[in-house]
Amino acid sequence: MFTYCWKRYEMALTSLKTGGLLSVIILILAVYYKRSNDEYLETHIHEVLDGLLRAERKVQQDQKTKVAVGFGACFDYYTNATQLLDSISVEPSSSPEHYTSINSKGELAQLVAYFFGVGAAAERYIKNKVLWQEMLQGAQGLPYMRTTVGGNAPVMAKRFITEGFDVLLGARISKKLANMISPDMKVAGGDLMEDDVHISLEYKTGEKWGPYTSPRANRIFLHSDQTNPYINALEEFQIALREFNPKLLVIGGLQMLDHFPFELGERESRLQKLSDMLRTTQKETLVHFEMASFTEETLMLDLADYLIPYSDSLGMNEQELPNIVSILTYRNITVLSDPYPRVATVLDQMRELYSLLEKFPETKGRRKVSRLHIHTLPFQAILTRRNSAWKNTMSATAKAALMGIRHVCNSSHIDLHKSKLIMDESFSTTTDDKFRERIPLNSNRPVSCWEEGDYQICVAPNLVCTDVVQTGGGGDNISSAGLVLQI
Ligand SMILES: *[C@@H]1O[C@H](CO)[C@@H](O)[C@H](O)[C@H]1NC(C)=O
Ligand SMILES: *[C@@H]1O[C@H](CO)[C@@H](O)[C@H](O)[C@H]1NC(C)=O
Ligand SMILES: *[C@@H]1O[C@H](CO)[C@@H](O)[C@H](O)[C@H]1NC(C)=O
Ligand SMILES: *[C@@H]1O[C@H](CO)[C@@H](O)[C@H](O)[C@H]1NC(C)=O
Repeated sequence: MFTYCWKRYEMALTSLKTGGLLSVIILILAVYYKRSNDEYLETHIHEVLDGLLRAERKVQQDQKTKVAVGFGACFDYYTNATQLLDSISVEPSSSPEHYTSINSKGELAQLVAYFFGVGAAAERYIKNKVLWQEMLQGAQGLPYMRTTVGGNAPVMAKRFITEGFDVLLGARISKKLANMISPDMKVAGGDLMEDDVHISLEYKTGEKWGPYTSPRANRIFLHSDQTNPYINALEEFQIALREFNPKLLVIGGLQMLDHFPFELGERESRLQKLSDMLRTTQKETLVHFEMASFTEETLMLDLADYLIPYSDSLGMNEQELPNIVSILTYRNITVLSDPYPRVATVLDQMRELYSLLEKFPETKGRRKVSRLHIHTLPFQAILTRRNSAWKNTMSATAKAALMGIRHVCNSSHIDLHKSKLIMDESFSTTTDDKFRERIPLNSNRPVSCWEEGDYQICVAPNLVCTDVVQTGGGGDNISSAGLVLQI
């Protein structure tokens, strides 16, 4: 019944090219299609969940596998965006603007208006230390402020610990912060008097701020780091790494270098050191680089020179993917992309990225990227090179899809009353008409995998949490969950 309806819809679309009279019928069919799509998903969501759980359980990870994760750590203050802005008298601005760093309350108001209005995530540096102190006090004065260990590295490290792995974290942190991290975790990087703090301004779907209504739940991370941008833990981490000899080395948290006021050449020199570390890491250790929201073109170009050529795997979300493709193609970046990307669009960008990376010049210590993981709100997509060291791509994609809802709903048990599917009932493998194939979402086997060129691609629909408890840290949990079953 459903397939029939879909075919009719496609036929109608085709005839649009030859005639003009059909637009009314198309509209009716489109509405009908949308409704039957929603109905189909509603009745099949439990099968999708069972299918994902089965796929996840299919493989057992090796216990006590060694994983090292760098860099940086901080305290995260989770706050209610509108309440925090109220408490420091920042009013909604009528002229949204995407500043790369913030110097005043006026700029903050414009920046929040920009991202809140479209529901996109952002991460920005606050230059003005007076404003920053005011924000910290504002956050501490809120009735519901939650403090957790933050930074990409500790969140990813904690996930690996939870999964039973043996973990080394590269971070310079205080005793207080170290105590909040698992006692089972080894830390290399030295002691610190006062940790950096990041403030997460969280908002819900449909929440209002002045004239703005957020189309989806998300957060804006703000920070004014003094320590993390220098990757201070690097030297001690590098020494500890030799002894530890991990199976997987994960690098993340480098967005802290974004728009940080370095002295001339300082950033390049730190990245060069990091690059040296990766180039001298033994080949049996797989290197994963977790991207983040970068806004500075020169930093992204540096990452493309110093880091990406020495990584086996890259993880990123739907905003970061077009960004890196654009940097490698045009040497510029895109600021905002569709927060609900179509599968076909993402797959095309993944293929483009994969082939751009293949063409990188051969340098000493160079690794070829053999894995790409893209996490988006509607779905997960993982590409792995055939005969590479990455195992179990199908199960890993399912685990990543499940981790999203477990994290956002803050529950390892998935409640179908708090879940919905937002991926379409079928997707195209590419936007290119010549090669396009439609893959239906099979609710009994929800993860679709197929081979192309010298790689395999798996796509899994996400169950999306409708009762949001937390969003920040989601990408890190999801990315690590994907890696857990692959090593
Ligand atoms: C923030 O607080 C407002 C009320 O002040 C509330 O309506 C909203 O749901 C809260 N948002 C979050 C993310 O908790
Ligand atoms: C990046 O450069 C390309 C080619 O010059 C151009 O087409 C594109 O619009 C630029 N993108 C941005 C965001 O500036
Ligand atoms: C994701 O990581 C954070 C920080 O370690 C943790 O608080 C949260 O519970 C994790 N989510 C899940 C689903 O384990
Ligand atoms: C998530 O659940 C854990 C354990 O049930 C609880 O300790 C924690 O406070 C919850 N996190 C949030 C953000 O509610």
